[in-house]
Amino acid sequence: MMALLTDSMALARWRDSCRQRGGAIGFVPTMGALHAGHLALIQAARQQCAHVVASIFVNPTQFGPNEDFSRYPRTPEADRELLAGVGCDAVYMPEVGEIYPEGFQTAIRVEPLTLDLCGRSRPGHFDGVGVVVTILFNRVRPDVAFFGLKDYQQYQLIRRLVADLAMPLRVVGVPTVREADGLALSSRNRYLDGEARVRATALYRGLLAARQAWRAGERQVAVLERVARDVLERAGIEAVDYVAVREAQTLRVITSFTESMADPVMLMAVRVGGARLIDNMVLSREDGAGLSL
Ligand code: PAF
Repeated sequence: MMALLTDSMALARWRDSCRQRGGAIGFVPTMGALHAGHLALIQAARQQCAHVVASIFVNPTQFGPNEDFSRYPRTPEADRELLAGVGCDAVYMPEVGEIYPEGFQTAIRVEPLTLDLCGRSRPGHFDGVGVVVTILFNRVRPDVAFFGLKDYQQYQLIRRLVADLAMPLRVVGVPTVREADGLALSSRNRYLDGEARVRATALYRGLLAARQAWRAGERQVAVLERVARDVLERAGIEAVDYVAVREAQTLRVITSFTESMADPVMLMAVRVGGARLIDNMVLSREDGAGLSL
């Protein structure tokens, strides 16, 4: 039976019983509205850890004033069934007041990593992610935490945060799960109607086109970005927030490719129908391969 932990006391008791039994605690933080991408995180945790706990918390501080916090899909019963179905041991579902008690004042900023890309069009978003993930880590105290590589900038932010603050845990990135036509799974795909859903496949096709150009020897960042943008534009996606090729570890701008540099990752964010969608691909590798650092 999966344990339902609604407050930090219950969570602490569960954690203590795991510690007594021994073995690593694996943690998968989520905002619910779970799909196969989240379940892949649980499965990765299941493979690597004796105990697996997920959290479901729609974090208000990572949504901007005009973003979708109030309409973000909330499906707690279905989520619990899905988690139990893939062998998750416990789910922590705190109230807002437990994460952000009266008088909460602390901020976490990881810069310059979060100033650009999604950070540019979603000011404050990554500060909210940094603070909630820190609080959740302090409550759960996991040995290993699992994050999807689809949220690539978030994944790099968390790696940086954990390294900089010497948090005693390991961060694992899990490859993106895609639909058969390549669309990366996302809770926000629920916002796509039939026609927008078809257009949304252009993200993956754009990334593949850029990878193909990379493999054919193209090394000009602007050309690689143009190749992907063309695919988006041909599909009728006009609201392109960014298409950028960056250094995969640091997300730094690449001025020219050298032998010694890290792999290049292409990242993109677009608006399709009512949804803001993101995707990415390391151009020099198979999808997601070798990135669980
Ligand atoms: O990726 C998410 O679902 C969220 O940003 C996270 C990491 C659970 C923090 O709220």
